[in-house]
Amino acid sequence: MGFHVNIHGRHYRTIWLDEDGWGVRVIDQTRLPFHFETVRLSTADEAAHAIRHMTVRGAPLIGATAAYGVALALRVDSSNPALEQALALLGATRPTAVNLHWALARMRRRLIDLPQAERVAAAYAEAGAICDEDVALCHAIGEHGLGVIREIAAKKPGAPVNILTHCNAGWLATVDWGTALAPIYLAHDAGIPVHVWVDETRPRNQGAALTAYELGSHGVPHAVIVDNAGGHLMQHGEVDMVIVGSDRTTATGDVANKIGTYLKALAAKDNGVPFYVALPSPTIDWALRDGLKEIPIEERAGREVTHLFGQGEDGSTGFFQVAAPGSAACNPAFDVTPARLVTGLITERGIAPASAEGLAKLFPEMTSGVAA
Ligand code: MRU
Repeated sequence: MGFHVNIHGRHYRTIWLDEDGWGVRVIDQTRLPFHFETVRLSTADEAAHAIRHMTVRGAPLIGATAAYGVALALRVDSSNPALEQALALLGATRPTAVNLHWALARMRRRLIDLPQAERVAAAYAEAGAICDEDVALCHAIGEHGLGVIREIAAKKPGAPVNILTHCNAGWLATVDWGTALAPIYLAHDAGIPVHVWVDETRPRNQGAALTAYELGSHGVPHAVIVDNAGGHLMQHGEVDMVIVGSDRTTATGDVANKIGTYLKALAAKDNGVPFYVALPSPTIDWALRDGLKEIPIEERAGREVTHLFGQGEDGSTGFFQVAAPGSAACNPAFDVTPARLVTGLITERGIAPASAEGLAKLFPEMTSGVAA
């Protein structure tokens, strides 16, 4: 299992240890889809910068990078104050994806009672375990989601299952496989005809740039659409199901995901299109019950709205202004889809109704409070 990612004939995860055994290497997602480049992270500051500036992004990968960031910090100083400082630095990088706080809390629990001399090795081992587990969780999500795709495929023999997705919840957003895209990869590999509508996902275009890149690399048929096209396609029977990922889901099943997800859920509801959210359990914030009131929504720079990153016809890449010079911009990066609009939560343990009861049944050990 794992090492699903195949770029130029080589298998990659999105994060791995460099040849010297301690530096951390990641794929620079700000350069995709035009350039496949990797970046080395040698300090906690560099790990924090990579998360904040979205060299790495996607909830599970943010958590994995932060975990390695703690290990990098401890190499320099493994004292308690240094550990707490690293946790605070990395914890302040991005506010919405709860996997970040989950990973940091797990690192702290593992390290705080250890003698200093043992901390560095333990930190690397724990970060590695978080990565390995993420691969297994995503693969299990893929298996459960595959069942849903199979059911739809059985109702339209020979015709492709049309799946709409928003943002990038593929292998680039995780350590491998992805969440929303894992069932799609497994379906495609199993010979089920699938076709993916890829929301471009303004303002940063994670759909057009990253999801389309992934699907193209894997040979999955797809078409990029503008964010406003989904409702129209649903009205005309062109969407069999929606699958998206999540950055934070409450214990009651409210789903925070990339801005625009809520509008897709509304359109899906109006058109009777099943709307699934694929998420590993570290994305569930068991302490929260009201997503709209309680999930912090990241506000990003207006420049992401007024400017677009792209490649010119001469092959050079850069930013282009698309908004009228001088106009203000507002850039909330995530929205919350209320549980009532979600058909099911596809987790590593199976598919739960988006409700407190549904999640509690799959995760009975998580009654309340912070994730264990
Ligand atoms: O701002 P990003 O690119 O980090 O946002 C990512 C998303 O919204 C994904 O859909 C989400 O993290 C799920 S990824 C498995």
